[in-house]
Amino acid sequence: MVERRRRSVRTALVGEALRVALAERKRTDPGAGSDRLDIVDLGGGTGGFAVPLAVEGHRVTVVDPSPDALASLERRARDEGVSELVRGVQGDAAELPGLAGESSADAVLCHGVLEVVDDPVQALQAMASVLREGGVLSLLVAQRNAVVLARALAGHLAEARIALQDPEGRWGATDPMPRRFDEAGITGQLADAGFVVQTVHGVRTFADLVPSAFVDSEPGAAESLAELERAASRHPAFRALATQLHILATR
Ligand SMILES: C[S@@+](CC[C@H](N)C(=O)[O-])C[C@H]1O[C@@H](n2cnc3c(N)ncnc32)[C@H](O)[C@@H]1O
Repeated sequence: MVERRRRSVRTALVGEALRVALAERKRTDPGAGSDRLDIVDLGGGTGGFAVPLAVEGHRVTVVDPSPDALASLERRARDEGVSELVRGVQGDAAELPGLAGESSADAVLCHGVLEVVDDPVQALQAMASVLREGGVLSLLVAQRNAVVLARALAGHLAEARIALQDPEGRWGATDPMPRRFDEAGITGQLADAGFVVQTVHGVRTFADLVPSAFVDSEPGAAESLAELERAASRHPAFRALATQLHILATR
């Protein structure tokens, strides 16, 4: 229950912005007439986003290299009664066009995945090729400024300085994250891959800094935190410090 509430604080903004974009896609889709969109979730894992979207009636293909994650996805879809709308495909970002099909999707989700793929530029091109014209990309990436701040606040000052100066935003050889992004860099890569950026939000500006014991025990604190996150998400100064950037872009 507590973990679910913490996760919902962290993902609420992404879900809200995504649903606005999907509604707009349904409104403007030349082939509209159906409320059901075709969605590809690259690195969708256990279906934290995919299954709720299927529950809303969309057809979702999850492409992920992890067989364990795909097994959990299958179970989750079955528990929610949406197995016929969720397809799990084992594979890598580089194989996406062959696995999902070119120009097959109204929306592609790539949440927490561009940090770990072998070649982010190739992955963005693959996602562009899978989208139909006017389709929506929902991209969630780790932001380097946040890790500089987090390492400094944890007392790891040398690592904070390394992360600040490292081209990939890593704090050292034992950093488990292969790369992080900044807004200028990722929006430039999106433009190069043929995307038009529509919105950029900061996600988890405060959620990782406020002590979770307080959020979990204080009545109303989770709701207050969610409101604060929402208010800060578009503010340029706070957005630049958020743990993640959520970008909606069209092709
Ligand atoms: C941090 S999890 C994010 C899961 C999900 N997108 C979410 O937001 O809850 C990263 C996911 O990316 C997948 N992944 C790792 N390498 C990948 C690759 N090269 N291509 C596609 N997915 C990959 C992992 O198996 C894992 O499910």
